Amino acid sequence: MIVIAGPASNGIGFRLSKILKAEYTRAVTKFFPDGETYVKIEGEIEGRDAVIVQSLYPPQDRHYLQLLFMIDTVRDLGAKSIVAVVPYMAYARQDKRFLPGEAISIKTILKGIEHAGAEYLITVDIHNEKSLEEWLNIKYVNLSAAPILAKYFERRMRNPLILAPDRGALNRAREAADVLNCEYDFLEKYRDRNTGEVTIKPKKLKVKGKDVLIIDDVISTGGTVVLATKELLRLNADKVYIACTHPLFAGNSYEKVLSSGVEEIVATDTIPSPVSYVSVAPLIAEYLKNILK
Ligand code: R5P
Repeated sequence: MIVIAGPASNGIGFRLSKILKAEYTRAVTKFFPDGETYVKIEGEIEGRDAVIVQSLYPPQDRHYLQLLFMIDTVRDLGAKSIVAVVPYMAYARQDKRFLPGEAISIKTILKGIEHAGAEYLITVDIHNEKSLEEWLNIKYVNLSAAPILAKYFERRMRNPLILAPDRGALNRAREAADVLNCEYDFLEKYRDRNTGEVTIKPKKLKVKGKDVLIIDDVISTGGTVVLATKELLRLNADKVYIACTHPLFAGNSYEKVLSSGVEEIVATDTIPSPVSYVSVAPLIAEYLKNILK
């Protein structure tokens, strides 16, 4: 097996190679003066299981094109099998035509990965797992980071309650609650499809005297978790903690979330950020061990 890290592997490829005791190489990338992307794969690829690691954090489009170039090249070089490890799957939130005429972006993204030649896709907490089911014709897995994020908080919270910021994220809250052996619930969230503005409906929650952990897949503008934090503090929660898998932190949202009254924010390393403390590498390595036996 050879692990090939793209420029947006954020160290995950290297960690995987260490855990799996596999050979490691980095894709060489640069940009031509006109802005076009160049990719070169070094190392012996022919006849080997190739694991390509490239997350799709910003600049998403550039990282995506690099991923396609890597997959196609590795196929040309005669890899025995190709696993694409895409810890953060960009464009996953545009998974339907919310307004007439909109692109279903994730469909195009997934089709590209498949057509470039990946035979297996490993991703982490994709926004909607149904996208994989619906649009992909290769094998895939969507790993959940909720248990490893919850583990981080194991001895940090007193009288914990896990909250999903919306009903769609309830499964994630349940998985985290299983680790912390506590209760979980969800908030009622509404997002205006034209303005993107988020509102949270007041809901009766018994949070007084509790440490509440909000767990979400993505923090982008921070609107969701800031509103949720404020609502929980209004309801007299003791402390509010935030865990998210993909810390996008668009614009000044990190500062915005920090000043919302939250006790601590923790995220995984699918995207580099000031709080990417929890690595998804062990999770992915465990899965790779099973499929590349
Ligand atoms: C939405 O359904 C997701 O689970 C996240 O809650 C959302 O994408 C976060 O976005 P923002 O940080 O912009 O509120």
